[in-house]
Amino acid sequence: MIIAIDGPAGAGKSSAAKKLSKKLEIEYIDTGAMYRAFAYKVLKSKCDYNNISEIKKLLSTTKINFNNGHIFLDGEKIDLQIRTNEVSKLSSQIATIKEVRKNLVDIQRNIANSKDAILDGRDIGTHVFPDASFKFFLTASPEARGKRRHLELKSKGVNEKLENVINDIKKRDFNDSTRDVSPLKPAENAIIIDTTNINLNEVVKLMTEIILEGK
Ligand code: DC
Repeated sequence: MIIAIDGPAGAGKSSAAKKLSKKLEIEYIDTGAMYRAFAYKVLKSKCDYNNISEIKKLLSTTKINFNNGHIFLDGEKIDLQIRTNEVSKLSSQIATIKEVRKNLVDIQRNIANSKDAILDGRDIGTHVFPDASFKFFLTASPEARGKRRHLELKSKGVNEKLENVINDIKKRDFNDSTRDVSPLKPAENAIIIDTTNINLNEVVKLMTEIILEGK
């Protein structure tokens, strides 16, 4: 069983996916973390991401994997390093490069082909697993998503103006939904859940009911 959860930044995908994976006891794959991991490597190696041969070279020497819910880049655990604003912005940019997407999608398919899994991202239901058993598309107003991100950053000690956080979210929405390769959009048969006015527990309850009914 593959469960796809797509949607824009801050819609609550990863929180819902984590809870759901515990409830159903199946693996959770955070595909956004993989784009972030590669963006982090691009930053660290000072690679020019506009130069496709440099990107290809970097991809060929990069190993991204998950272990016990943690993300590893070339053997180093990088859960925290990939959550900075700089990495968020760059991940949305490098995610427009088709070679990067192909490389990461291959890894995603390899992990999930042999077991039940929940994957969250932007293109899971449309491209990575178009035959997924369940496809959800979580969304919310940019303001609601911005407020959530703002609180999350505050809890990590990062003081950023709410207005800036909302603007960054809008920019990423634009990048993610207008790129040529696998843009962010709901799959035709996705179940759309607007989380603007419902909390995480209600979202997970709704998803669980749909999954248990449809199984
Ligand atoms: O879900 P996230 O915010 O951690 O994702 C970071 C960026 O990675 C996002 O702006 C777009 C990109 N991404 C993507 O293009 N496709 C995915 N399946 C997941 C993420």
